[in-house]
Amino acid sequence: MEIIERAEKLPPYRASALVPTMGALHEGHASLIRQARASSERVLVTIFVNPTQFGPAEDFARYPRTLESDCRVAQDAGATAIFVPSIETVYPQGFESASREAAALALPRVAILPQLEDAFRPTHFGGVCQVVARLFDLCASSQAYFGEKDFQQLRVITEMVRREHARWPGLTVVPCATVREPDGLAMSSRNRFLDPPARACAIGISRALNEARECTRGVLDVPSAEARMRTILEAHGMTPQYAVIRDGSTLEAVTEHSRCARALIAATLDRVRLIDNVAIALDRPAC
Ligand code: PAF
Repeated sequence: MEIIERAEKLPPYRASALVPTMGALHEGHASLIRQARASSERVLVTIFVNPTQFGPAEDFARYPRTLESDCRVAQDAGATAIFVPSIETVYPQGFESASREAAALALPRVAILPQLEDAFRPTHFGGVCQVVARLFDLCASSQAYFGEKDFQQLRVITEMVRREHARWPGLTVVPCATVREPDGLAMSSRNRFLDPPARACAIGISRALNEARECTRGVLDVPSAEARMRTILEAHGMTPQYAVIRDGSTLEAVTEHSRCARALIAATLDRVRLIDNVAIALDRPAC
């Protein structure tokens, strides 16, 4: 497995499958890499902790940097190369100018209207779209793999690629199912910040989502399902930021035209912010 630091070394990996990450790789990332490898000879994993997607009060500085173990995880899962660019490679114009550019991007409506991550992390999707677009330009990949755990991110990137199909012709975004711990907690690089009591409480998120799935079977009563989710989160000592059921495509309110729905949660526990989501069955043809 080759470790690439400079963009000039990327051309042999054109048209590979791409797995963009910020490192701190866990089984969820390994599963993305394995799925990419199952359909492509060459899999390029990128590791870049992107400063422009973190707000000023967020955890950029303490985001885990674990390159040595990341290389092992990526190689074992079947990656052919890892691209670990410097900040100058990704943002040759400098950080200040890159931040201004991220703030000025015209984002798809799913990045600004739902009032989910966009409400709590207002500069986040500008930075995500900026860095993912830059990685797509540099890597010229054929497919890009993203996990469903960051569901709004997945929808935003899918819309960006659809809108800019002339810029990345033939690029497909491949969504991959969330990988969970045996007790149901979605795998996340931030789980390592949970101490044992907090880790025990964190199960509240998947319990709340399961409850939403169960109580909406047959009849979709959105307000009472959302209230149930909040009650379960609070009973586990968590502070919900949102616990909602939305149209699974627009992430806006479910309407009679919705063909799929999604329950989505963001909640904090101590100072750790966790997100997760599940599909909610609707009694109509699916998305
Ligand atoms: O999901 C992530 O790890 C990041 O947001 C991404 C897509 C790699 C962009 O930095």
